[in-house]
Amino acid sequence: MSEPVACAHGPAALPEPRGPVSAALVAAWREPPHDLPAHLDCDPVDPLTDEDLQLALFLCYELHYRGWAGVDEAWEWQPSLLALRARLERRFEAALRRLVGPLPTTDPADLPAALAALVRADDGPSLAATLHRRATLAQFREFVTHRSIYHLKEADPHSWAIPRLGGAVKAALVEIQADEYGGGRPERMHAELFRLTLDRLGLDTGYAAHLDAVPGVTLATTNVISLFGLHRRLRGALVGHLAAFEMTSSLPNRRYGNGLRRLGFDEVATRFYDEHVEADAVHEQIAAYDLCGGLARAEPARTGDVLFGAAACLAVDRLFATHLLTRWAAGRSSLRPTSAAVPLAA
Ligand SMILES: [Fe+2]
Ligand SMILES: [Fe+2]
Repeated sequence: MSEPVACAHGPAALPEPRGPVSAALVAAWREPPHDLPAHLDCDPVDPLTDEDLQLALFLCYELHYRGWAGVDEAWEWQPSLLALRARLERRFEAALRRLVGPLPTTDPADLPAALAALVRADDGPSLAATLHRRATLAQFREFVTHRSIYHLKEADPHSWAIPRLGGAVKAALVEIQADEYGGGRPERMHAELFRLTLDRLGLDTGYAAHLDAVPGVTLATTNVISLFGLHRRLRGALVGHLAAFEMTSSLPNRRYGNGLRRLGFDEVATRFYDEHVEADAVHEQIAAYDLCGGLARAEPARTGDVLFGAAACLAVDRLFATHLLTRWAAGRSSLRPTSAAVPLAA
């Protein structure tokens, strides 16, 4: 049998396993769908950064996006696989709720203001300031390598909410997503703009090409959206996540673009970031007022979930930023030491 071929837009090649659960999945997926061992599970101290748990979740979730090269598509709905995913998700969601902690009870009418207060109170370390002012080219390439896992499927995880909403709330989400997908023009899709950035930085532009290089905490930043997206009960958290994402995007993206300009890159390399400066200044208003505010009016009982989703977005992003800045402060790479996926030319 010939080796499965990974494509630029997916499916990607299966990654290297990082522990018993991801190893069992990768091994099982070389065969047609069948029952996995019922005891397959992992119970790490920190599910948010555990390499095996986060990779196993990412593997499972990707079956619902582009799939994996050479893996039978029928695995997507294999019952024992879904049962394993549910066990991993329980640990992940519980860890997210512990990380976020208690949130203030909010009147549905005050939700946009509560979201703004949450964002204002975020005291995470400023990765954007570092990338703007002093990151080296190697560090910028690391940052882009991490972000490629999300940006090459940008907007897809939040799109799971579209069929779960109706009326003006659905229209608000579609307005944001239409921009993310380039208004129907492939060369303007945000994922495609990011591919230009990768290319200009001399990095592989293939879908999930850098998966082996990124740690569990990076996978968690995308897994959290897939968790919210694939569970209808968490639709409030999903739109809350999108709101926090958009509300913390415009200024950092200006800094990322300026950081690349400082390093001598042209407007093709910075186009992805420049596009987000203006687009997300608009998106954050739509997300806070029309999308989240609208959902809270339509379904007041979801108000707390929206805040939880927003807080989870900020908290996981803090973990991610802390990881990069701590590693860089120690003179180390933020990527996995076994990384063979990141070319380090020039
Ligand atoms: Fe975008
Ligand atoms: Fe946006």
